[in-house]
Amino acid sequence: MVVHTRADLAAARDGLKGTVGVVMTMGALHSGHETLLRAARERADHVLVTVFVNPLQFGPNEDFDRYPRTLDADLEICRRAGADVVFAPSVAEMYPDGQPRVRVNPGPLGEDLEGQSRPGFFHGVLTVVLKLLQLTRPDLAFFGEKDYQQLTLVRRMARDLDVPVEVVGVPTVREPDGLALSSRNRYLSPAEREAALSLSAALRAGAGAADAGRDAGAVLA
Ligand code: PAF
Repeated sequence: MVVHTRADLAAARDGLKGTVGVVMTMGALHSGHETLLRAARERADHVLVTVFVNPLQFGPNEDFDRYPRTLDADLEICRRAGADVVFAPSVAEMYPDGQPRVRVNPGPLGEDLEGQSRPGFFHGVLTVVLKLLQLTRPDLAFFGEKDYQQLTLVRRMARDLDVPVEVVGVPTVREPDGLALSSRNRYLSPAEREAALSLSAALRAGAGAADAGRDAGAVLA
């Protein structure tokens, strides 16, 4: 079932008896998301998927307008993966008063790594994640390890703000050549895609060096 409003979501949620697992997405679903859905299916009696391109987590020069929106194909994937409810709200439904004045502050980890190059990004992510947790009231929430900083911050938020949900991390799904599956990979030119592979290759080389008992300098190199 697909619902677009808070009222319809609340009614659909009330109809789900037993445990509920939520998978939050921005749509453009691929097999990485399917793995999240399967993990949710295994652990929870019901699976609820959210599809919402959250304007709060896009900077002024980022790709909010051109971010891929493929709802029909997403619904087909959700149906195949056995999702019970898909919540696909509009921006006005999620932010009826416009941009929220109060946002979740991710603390120091939100300023580091990805937060350093994308100021305000994790404020936007945690704010929408908290809103979606309140609206969907899940027992379990599944997030990909691909976005490890996001996963860590969502876990921290649930713990620090007493949100009654178990946050479950799901291993990254990769292309055969090692590239992590991501909706934004479709923007990469062949040369950029080739360059992006150096990340997984470097991680694997570092892991190999660590397994071989080499020191920290060798792992970093
Ligand atoms: O990982 C994502 O797709 C987004 O950051 C999320 C968690 C759906 C919040 O908009």
